[in-house]
Amino acid sequence: MRYEFDPADTPDIMKSIFKARRAVDTDLERSGVWRFRELLPFVNDTSRVVTLAEGNTPIYRAPGSARYAGLDQLRFKHQGLNPTGSFKDNGMTTGVTQAAALNATAVACASTGNTSASMAAYAARAGMRAFVFMPAGEVAYGKLSQSLEYGAKVIEIEGNFDDAMRLVRELADETDLYLLNSINPFRLEGQKAIIIEMMEQCEWQAPDWVVLPGGNLGNTSAFGKALHEMAELKLIDRVPRLAVIQAEGAAPFYQLFASSDKSALHSLTHPSTLATAIRIGNPISWKKALRALEWTNGIVDRVNEEEIADAKAIIGRDGIGCEPASATTLAGIKRMVSSGVIDSSDDVVAVLTGNLLKDPTYTIGYHTGTLELDEEGARREVKGKFENRSVRVAADKEKIKLVIAN
Ligand code: F0G
Repeated sequence: MRYEFDPADTPDIMKSIFKARRAVDTDLERSGVWRFRELLPFVNDTSRVVTLAEGNTPIYRAPGSARYAGLDQLRFKHQGLNPTGSFKDNGMTTGVTQAAALNATAVACASTGNTSASMAAYAARAGMRAFVFMPAGEVAYGKLSQSLEYGAKVIEIEGNFDDAMRLVRELADETDLYLLNSINPFRLEGQKAIIIEMMEQCEWQAPDWVVLPGGNLGNTSAFGKALHEMAELKLIDRVPRLAVIQAEGAAPFYQLFASSDKSALHSLTHPSTLATAIRIGNPISWKKALRALEWTNGIVDRVNEEEIADAKAIIGRDGIGCEPASATTLAGIKRMVSSGVIDSSDDVVAVLTGNLLKDPTYTIGYHTGTLELDEEGARREVKGKFENRSVRVAADKEKIKLVIAN
């Protein structure tokens, strides 16, 4: 999807319009997606926009995480502070708005949990039926509970995410279901706003690196397109390098990037990681994501389960918190700093894609030392360095004082 921008819109005019809208008290103007609508100009009738006032998420400085990674400083853009707790809301407001413009009455997606939670909420706002296809037993409870609460029909497929993805695509071809996975270009248009807003928060001075997790690779694709367009429009005068981080057991894009032949991605039949959001063996947007890396001189790295788990605990100690997939960013940065790819003085912004509360089972498992990964039928323990167990004490003040004193 390409647009011709109005040549009368100078970068400075656009920047001041984006900013001024934030102060207007309507959901449309305030939305951290729709206030950038000149950059996603596919909606003629803004009265039909379906929004939950998404976006406008904060950027936090994270000194403890920076120290852990060996950086002088590090910032996190926390997309987990969106209405349904993940970055998917940025793309769902545009995807469901397009569905409404097409008079769709039923929408569908395959999901590892966040896309479905978001789609369920926006479909409910729009009065549409929502069908979500999930890998049975593999979706974190916070996410599953959202889809149920927002009234979606949850279909748990006996298979993995890639099976669910294949089936929902086939069903969308054969029925009236409107597909809302990130293969849908209108979703990606909304997700562009994540990095547009990030550049605004950086006062339009691009950092050296933008680091994000890679699963189905929709976000990577959207970021690449947005950076390309922002550079074209002279909203930014240089482009940050994208660094995409995958979990070691689900890293087909890393394998592709490391190989000399980038013409075909070799999918994994049994992807495995406790970061269930990115347990994906056949990422659908790999071609667009590859182009995004070409445009931005980007790279791909991968991190193991222990690295993800410990990085997540460190992000928590900064008082920020995130879900496991998001913590691949800090783990990846730490690796890239120690290998010299990222310099300790580089300006780095990482995207935390989902909220800490999405996957409480993982967090409790980490802090009680009971995390286990299922690897091709065998279970292996994932032990962290920063456990924080609760203590059980009699309802007795003196005994409690002893606990506090220690
Ligand atoms: N982080 C979180 C928390 C996610 O939920 C996802 C993807 C990603 C990272 C990866 O983003 O796919 O754009 O590369 N979740 C999808 C879902 C697959 O169904 O919720 P991506």
